[in-house]
Amino acid sequence: MGMAKHTTYVSPLPGPDGRIAYGAAEHATWYRLYTRQMALLPGRACDAFQEGVAQLGLAPDHVPQLAEVDAALARATGFGVEAVPALITPKRFFALLARRRFPVATFIRRPEDLDYIEEPDIFHEVFGHCPMLTHPVYADFIQHYGEVALRLPEKLLWRLQRLFWFTVEFGLIDMGPGRRIYGAGILSSFKETPWSLDAAEARREPFDLVTVLRTPYRIDILQPLYYVLSDWQQLLGVIEQDLPAACAEAKALGTLPPLFPEKAAA
Ligand SMILES: [Fe+2]
Repeated sequence: MGMAKHTTYVSPLPGPDGRIAYGAAEHATWYRLYTRQMALLPGRACDAFQEGVAQLGLAPDHVPQLAEVDAALARATGFGVEAVPALITPKRFFALLARRRFPVATFIRRPEDLDYIEEPDIFHEVFGHCPMLTHPVYADFIQHYGEVALRLPEKLLWRLQRLFWFTVEFGLIDMGPGRRIYGAGILSSFKETPWSLDAAEARREPFDLVTVLRTPYRIDILQPLYYVLSDWQQLLGVIEQDLPAACAEAKALGTLPPLFPEKAAA
């Protein structure tokens, strides 16, 4: 989920047959994005991602139809997807997650935005997130996050969003064969895929819940800091913790100094 406030994109909606009519230029954009990420991700993405791409039947030659992604996710983890406008309110976002529905903006980026857009498009949502939603721990974590976020007072909520950012969007995990990517913001980014694992300028720290909740981030840069899970069990453990209490503890301890320059005023 991006945090962009404005967008010039509009999400196309399904027709009476339940399908969204994409044009040749949109399929061509999907093809370019899909093929270059699939060339980069072997040995970099976690196994669950690679297996999820196969389970969803994603293919290079066409923008996937949400109805088909929805059916495949229902079989895998009982998750689903829901077409939404380019930007939705946080409350609607969390309510959908709590019901095991993942909101998907259905537009695809313009060719001039191939490498980066602030708004999440269908490539980020379906290629980045949906394969991971076939993994039971990732799926349960997202549902639980939605449930907790809905109940949390607004003054603690922005801290909780750091948890989503440093896991679901930009998380790394250590696996038997080595360190792997599971965050959708990385998996859908051509530049950030190698950067997240290899750049000497970026830091990689062990995941710790309260530390994550104290860490500021900027959405519009290659991340200077990643948190690394030791295994999936660690993410499952987060679900069992008292998240509002962890947010309150992070608030008491204070925000850590940012590792990035402040955004220049527009
Ligand atoms: Fe996202």
